Amino acid sequence: MKDSIRKPFVAGNWKMNGSNELVESFVSNLALNPDVDIVICPPAVYLSKLSSASFEVGAQNASEFASGAHTGELSLGMIAESGCKYVILGHSERRENHAESNELVARKVKATIEMGLIPILCIGEPLNVRESGGVFDFVKAQLDAVAKECGAQYIKNSVIAYEPIWAIGTGKTASPEQAQEVHAFIRKELTALDASAAASVRLLYGGSVNAGNAKDLFAKIDIDGGLIGGASLKIEDFTTICLAAS
Ligand code: PGA
Repeated sequence: MKDSIRKPFVAGNWKMNGSNELVESFVSNLALNPDVDIVICPPAVYLSKLSSASFEVGAQNASEFASGAHTGELSLGMIAESGCKYVILGHSERRENHAESNELVARKVKATIEMGLIPILCIGEPLNVRESGGVFDFVKAQLDAVAKECGAQYIKNSVIAYEPIWAIGTGKTASPEQAQEVHAFIRKELTALDASAAASVRLLYGGSVNAGNAKDLFAKIDIDGGLIGGASLKIEDFTTICLAAS
């Protein structure tokens, strides 16, 4: 039996995709599901437009700073003002392509919680780490950096997404068993810090989730929903995935 204290959670990460047309179609047509928390994370310029919708909205990144000379960055205050409740942090594309370290991601988690927003903290290993058997150590280091900065406190204020990098955008999904194994490890690590927060924190799986494989992944005991990239751009597929979580 899955633990009913954890309401299923599905977030769509549009990455650098979308248009006014896609925004309007989601605002008008995305069916809500009272059994699932549904969040759309579009490029920042669309946040205000989507914030009128009946689903929740999240940003894809935020600066660790409150204001100042940081051209191209968005502060958490601005993100809050645009109607967001959530912020994706530490996505592997930010870690890899924008050199975001575990420590920087941890500082962003802290600042996000202080702003009253909810981090969707992404963690997960590259292929070479999986192949060399280092998955648990890798993921633990990512979590430890956040605990060092924020204390155990962050667990009850966050959603955590396990996204193996080799599965992101590749069509190569982790098997439900592979994902569950890491989710169970994450929950065990969090339990050592705060057992009750660990029992209620939502752990999402991300990496090539689609309308066909979502149900089997979400059936696993420690998988409480998904962070969906490519398939969140198609309203029918995204709706099917949200249904699979309920
Ligand atoms: P994907 O992306 O579903 O396209 O693999 C997931 C993510 O990067 O969050």
